[in-house]
Amino acid sequence: MQIKEKKMYNEKVLQHFKDPHNVGTMENPDGYGEVGSSECGDTMKMYIKVDDNKITDIKYQTYGCCAAIASSSIATDMALGKTIEEAQAMSKMDIVQELGGLPEKKIHCSLLAEDALKEAIKDYKSK
Ligand code: FES
Repeated sequence: MQIKEKKMYNEKVLQHFKDPHNVGTMENPDGYGEVGSSECGDTMKMYIKVDDNKITDIKYQTYGCCAAIASSSIATDMALGKTIEEAQAMSKMDIVQELGGLPEKKIHCSLLAEDALKEAIKDYKSK
């Protein structure tokens, strides 16, 4: 009997997973956010540099699954160059849409990227 393999992730998600953008840490970030998923326990740290109200640099570290890594990779690409207000308005569904979709049970992984970015912005605003 032959079992047909069903692909869980689309090509864009796999590309960002295999070659993630903006991975790393940052010395003296203007904003820093660290969040954990209540669903799976995975974590994400995000660092931003802000100049003239725009995100001029962004880095992250993820301890998470393929969807979390792909979501943070594309979320950081999306946030780079945005104003603080524009970046703050980004939702997990914007991230999922930009990735071309995620399996239903992996949607929560994209929330990690949204939350980490929002925490970093909150930290920036509090300074
Ligand atoms: Fe934990 Fe995806 S399963 S972030």
